Amino acid sequence: MRISGAKNSALKLMAASLLASGRFTLRGVPRIADVRWMGELLEQMGVTVFQEGDVLTLDVPERVTPEAPYELVERMRASIVVLGPLLGRFGTARVSVPGGDDFGHRPIDMHLRGLEELGATFTTSHGYIEGRADRLVGTTVLLPYPSVGATENLLMAAVLARGTTVIENAAREPEIADLAAFLNAMGGQVGGAGSSTITIEGVEGLEAVEHIVVPDRIEAATYMAAVGMAGGEVEVAGARPEHMEMLLVKLGEMGLHISPSTDGLVVTALGRPRSVDVATLPYPGVATDYQPLLVTLLAVGDSVGIVTENVFGGRFRYIDELMRMGADIRAEGHHAVIRGVGSLSGAPVRAPDIRAGAALVIAGLVADGETLIGNAHHVERGYQDLVGNLASLGAEVSYSGSG
Ligand code: EPU
Repeated sequence: MRISGAKNSALKLMAASLLASGRFTLRGVPRIADVRWMGELLEQMGVTVFQEGDVLTLDVPERVTPEAPYELVERMRASIVVLGPLLGRFGTARVSVPGGDDFGHRPIDMHLRGLEELGATFTTSHGYIEGRADRLVGTTVLLPYPSVGATENLLMAAVLARGTTVIENAAREPEIADLAAFLNAMGGQVGGAGSSTITIEGVEGLEAVEHIVVPDRIEAATYMAAVGMAGGEVEVAGARPEHMEMLLVKLGEMGLHISPSTDGLVVTALGRPRSVDVATLPYPGVATDYQPLLVTLLAVGDSVGIVTENVFGGRFRYIDELMRMGADIRAEGHHAVIRGVGSLSGAPVRAPDIRAGAALVIAGLVADGETLIGNAHHVERGYQDLVGNLASLGAEVSYSGSG
């Protein structure tokens, strides 16, 4: 099976299209709800968005309505990444405050403080942030934590700023490097993306381009975890091993055999996963998005594993659902102690978010009897066809569309 382009890159590239007028063509864009919603947000601003297969075109006009309304931001927090490009190009933005979500408290203080350092000013009233800037001016911004979203907002704002911006302690995820490559193709001057220091020389203007979205490492991990759970051998075409080195080390420790193929990876698993300890960290550490998949593998592991979640305070909420399926897990604060059990038992459960939803699906692959996953629409936000792909690998899984 073949993975799509990364959701978490495609959404930011779509936002970055606001930085220039003309026709953009993005290839490898997954057909998922989040992309549709980002498209709706851009259309509301005046952009014409069209997707056919994995090709997405965006026709961006000279002027846009620089506003992200509550109804759209509330549905998808990632909408906040329009703030940087709107301020960078138009000097004005009105964006709904995103609020928290299933991972708990999710502030955007680093986005705002960084943009303020570039010269933007913000007021917040009635649930909206209003940002203003004459032309932004480059400076050195030291992020207190390598936030993905804050790095992206700053990068997109700085590309049209006057002078040089340096982002220190920048996030290093492959999706950041993809965004920088896109901006550079547009005529930007971004160096160091993928490292913790990104340097941006502001330019006077940018132009619309074509771009291929980087493959989705989280989708790749999901199919690898499915193989770890159910056993067998699968080629994950399109997967880039260099984008998930720590994960591959962990999966190797858990007994999965992973080798490169001409265009991706081949994953082989025999028998129960070996229990290991894992801690999530910003890239290049083990990503927090892999955490529910790893906890699910450990739920049927051969002994005891401890998982420490260091990125999001509230990302263990799905564990109660796994316990309804017979998993033996004790979660407290940032730590989960997982005692592997011999088998899981199918039950009705609820998907609280995209990745936990996918993890419950792979738990259902090996559970005795039927697992019915409610709120499955969360899974559709991030996966083009999880059900169809797993079914093509031999899983008995179907989508009723009612949950
Ligand atoms: N944080 C702050 N202040 C800020 C920004 C972040 O305190 O101003 C904190 C967050 O609360 C969190 C940590 O910093 O504790 C990391 O947040 P980050 O900003 O790095 O994450 P994000 O940009 O909000 C993206 C992905 C997530 C992924 C994280 C971490 C998108 C749309 N989302 O979120 O992906 O888990 O990076 O890698 O790119 C998903 O795809 O399902 C998903 C949730």
